[in-house]
Amino acid sequence: MGAFFKAMTKPYYITTPLYYVNASPHIGHAYTNILCDTFARFRRFRGEKVFFLTGTDEHGTKIDRAARDQKQEPKAYVDQMVPKFKELWKLLEIEYDYFIRTTDQNHKETVQKILRNLEKKGEIYKASYTGWYCTPCESFWTKFQLAEGKCPDCHREVQALEEENYFFKLSQHQDWLKAYIQDNAGFIRPESRKNEILGFLEQPLEDLCITRPRNRLAWGIDYPTSKEHVVYVWFDALINYVSAVGLTKDAKKFKAHWPADAHVVGKDILRHHAVYWPIMLKACEVEMPKTIIAHGWWTMAGTKVSKSRGNAVDPVELVQTYGVDAFRYFLLREVTLGLDGAFSEDLLAQRYTTDLANDLGNLWFRLASMLGKYFEGRIPFFDLKSSVRSSPMAGALNLWTSVGAAMDDYNPRQALSEIWNLITGANQFIERTKPWELAKDAAKREDLASVLGHLAVTVAHVAVILQPLLPVTAAHILKRLKIAEKNVFKTQEDFIQPLVSFGVLVERGEALFPKLEEEKEEKI
Ligand code: MSP
Repeated sequence: MGAFFKAMTKPYYITTPLYYVNASPHIGHAYTNILCDTFARFRRFRGEKVFFLTGTDEHGTKIDRAARDQKQEPKAYVDQMVPKFKELWKLLEIEYDYFIRTTDQNHKETVQKILRNLEKKGEIYKASYTGWYCTPCESFWTKFQLAEGKCPDCHREVQALEEENYFFKLSQHQDWLKAYIQDNAGFIRPESRKNEILGFLEQPLEDLCITRPRNRLAWGIDYPTSKEHVVYVWFDALINYVSAVGLTKDAKKFKAHWPADAHVVGKDILRHHAVYWPIMLKACEVEMPKTIIAHGWWTMAGTKVSKSRGNAVDPVELVQTYGVDAFRYFLLREVTLGLDGAFSEDLLAQRYTTDLANDLGNLWFRLASMLGKYFEGRIPFFDLKSSVRSSPMAGALNLWTSVGAAMDDYNPRQALSEIWNLITGANQFIERTKPWELAKDAAKREDLASVLGHLAVTVAHVAVILQPLLPVTAAHILKRLKIAEKNVFKTQEDFIQPLVSFGVLVERGEALFPKLEEEKEEKI
């Protein structure tokens, strides 16, 4: 049997948080999806199978309130919000494999099955407890959440309210979780966030209230063993990561996907993902995900960008002005994953002009123009083994390794910086070799062919490796160089081919990053 058994290769499974649909997506949401898309594309590029999951979080108070503000039923409201997310992901070239909604029947049934199972295992109990209710905000707070005895949101008086609810025994798994995090170095990234979670676990964990009384909030998944309760939105939403791949429904599918390789989340929801979620999985006897990566916030004037703070940055407008790749480039390049980043349109415009238009755009323009001028637009024949002083070609052939290492380390900023070092090097190579001087001397025709040949090979490799990061620009360059969009470079040998073919007619095309309008330039 052994010899005939072909192991099913598990896809690389990456997830985004599920976005609340109470407002349109903004730059913060776009950031997580761009990060995940880049990681997913990079794996596909290296020939790996990928399962990239994203979706929407549609239950709970926030959504219920947003629907009522719009004078709509919650389900009708969420149904008309979901396309806004899907449209943005399309605009941003996000190639996800599955879009899950927490209102999907399959998801709801999985949540209910898990709850029944946990009840049977004694992981859940019913208890009554007193909380504080703010009537105008319709929010229920625990003693610790109150701000000087008042509602932490609106600072008005609150009323004591006794409720009966279901609780999940988080506390009994606290020691296990602490040990797990300590023993598994890459489980929470970056290190600083891991330490923050370990610090939090120094205090005793309170059990998690996982229901809401239906008479206070009806918009949620029905609690399976009580008609009077619905499931707490976080307990519902976290389960998406397993319901999407068949837990409780399709054992074969589940086995083929789980564990997730990476849950990418913002730092504000790390506790849910690095404390509640692992304990939920442990209680269900399900394997842990491999890594949970927390990114920082995009801020403006020092505060987190968010709809409720009224400083939301609309990704659609930015994409219309600068193009999708400039937007992706800015988010991936400006900050190291894990740290906060200050957003300003000026910074984006600056990156556009310096890195994209002046460095990459110009490199392409110079190469294509010189090929046009000196070789009728064709890639000249040259000896690939010819050594050309300070040629960037060797560096180009190395990108597969250096960019691969950065991407495996979840550091797209470093990956881009490796690529840009080479782009800068290639531009300097032009300055140094002065092809226009070589062109004046018929005896230097071969040298000229070698210089432009080395440059063409370099640019081809830059375009190939840029595919996961800047897919639109990469596709343009590859098309102009008549290189098939070969997405799979499984081994370094696949990559270190010359890629360009002698004699091929290259299209110069329009500027890759056209000059920004005058007024925008002035702003910079
Ligand atoms: N619905 C929950 C997640 C459930 S996952 C099972 C939620 N949704 S959210 O829409 O409020 O936020 C989704 C993600 O967007 C979070 O990871 C959050 O960190 C991220 N961002 C929201 N604003 C942000 C910035 N200003 N900057 C970067 N990301 C931020 O939480």
